[in-house]
Amino acid sequence: MLDMRVNICGVELKNPVVTASGTFGSGHEYSDFIDLSRLGAVIVKGVADKPWNGNKPPRIAEVYGGMINSVGLQNPGVDYFIKNDIPFLRQFDTKLIVNVCGHTAEEYVNTVKALRQQDVDMIELNISCPNIKAGGMAFGTDCQMAEKVVSEVKKYADKPLIVKLSPNVSDIALIAKAAENGGADAISLINTISAMKIDIYKRKTVLDSKIGGMSGPAIKPIAVRMVYQASKAVNIPIIGLGGISSGEDAIEFIMAGADAVAVGTANFMNPHACIDIIDGIEKYMNDFSVNNLSEIKGCI
Ligand SMILES: Cc1cc2nc3c(=O)[nH]c(=O)nc-3n(C[C@H](O)[C@H](O)[C@H](O)COP(=O)(O)O)c2cc1C
Repeated sequence: MLDMRVNICGVELKNPVVTASGTFGSGHEYSDFIDLSRLGAVIVKGVADKPWNGNKPPRIAEVYGGMINSVGLQNPGVDYFIKNDIPFLRQFDTKLIVNVCGHTAEEYVNTVKALRQQDVDMIELNISCPNIKAGGMAFGTDCQMAEKVVSEVKKYADKPLIVKLSPNVSDIALIAKAAENGGADAISLINTISAMKIDIYKRKTVLDSKIGGMSGPAIKPIAVRMVYQASKAVNIPIIGLGGISSGEDAIEFIMAGADAVAVGTANFMNPHACIDIIDGIEKYMNDFSVNNLSEIKGCI
């Protein structure tokens, strides 16, 4: 009997496919195209303690094999999220993971406190946010800062805490270990890769903020390598992501060591991508007599 269920820190997902934060909103837009109840989980767009305006446009650029964005974590704040998005998502038979952003440890803690006792399954902490106390350097690019913010937030979280890692580091294994040492119950990786595009006719960068984060199929081999390295460094579950657009891509991440996978940029090209990927994983399992994904997880 084919069994697609996976368990992430005691939370059972009906299959390993979840949406990547920031590429699926809170599911409203996609519910016209797909049945959200088929998803393993919805990871929502980053939520902060207060509304954030995000960056000035242009903040999206297409590049070969993907895109660069500098949306800047625009969001309506946690109070709006609790009032509007939780009731909407709870109509569906899927798990709910709330991605949390912040400029300081206090801002992360405020949001996590607001989410206590709320009907959500897990928290995903985006440590790629600029730390305003460290001159805008991302929390997730320094092991000490990463461990400290995770351990601070962990004190207040009443749900399993997934820490989402930045790939913009020289040794992903060290950051993964720092997150685990700080008390992460799971890690997800990768976030976008720092990138730039220049309009040579205007002699200007395409993005107003000059530098943004790259996502999409072109980053997949980097993400697979990082998931592999992180999986050798930690003993907690891993959600792998970065450029996944097919069932085969998802299987690659699972073989590299991921317990579940998230789908981001592919949703923009094909709103049905997550469903196609679930079906693709199922087909692979049938074709190659895999009854449970644990049989191939981390086989590399
Ligand atoms: C437009 C856009 C917005 C994003 N917003 C968030 C966010 O709010 N929080 C977060 O942790 N990651 C965010 N990400 C990163 C994605 O969740 C994901 O880590 C990254 O895009 C790599 O996966 P992909 O290649 O499948 O898109 C965003 C990505 C894009 C393209």
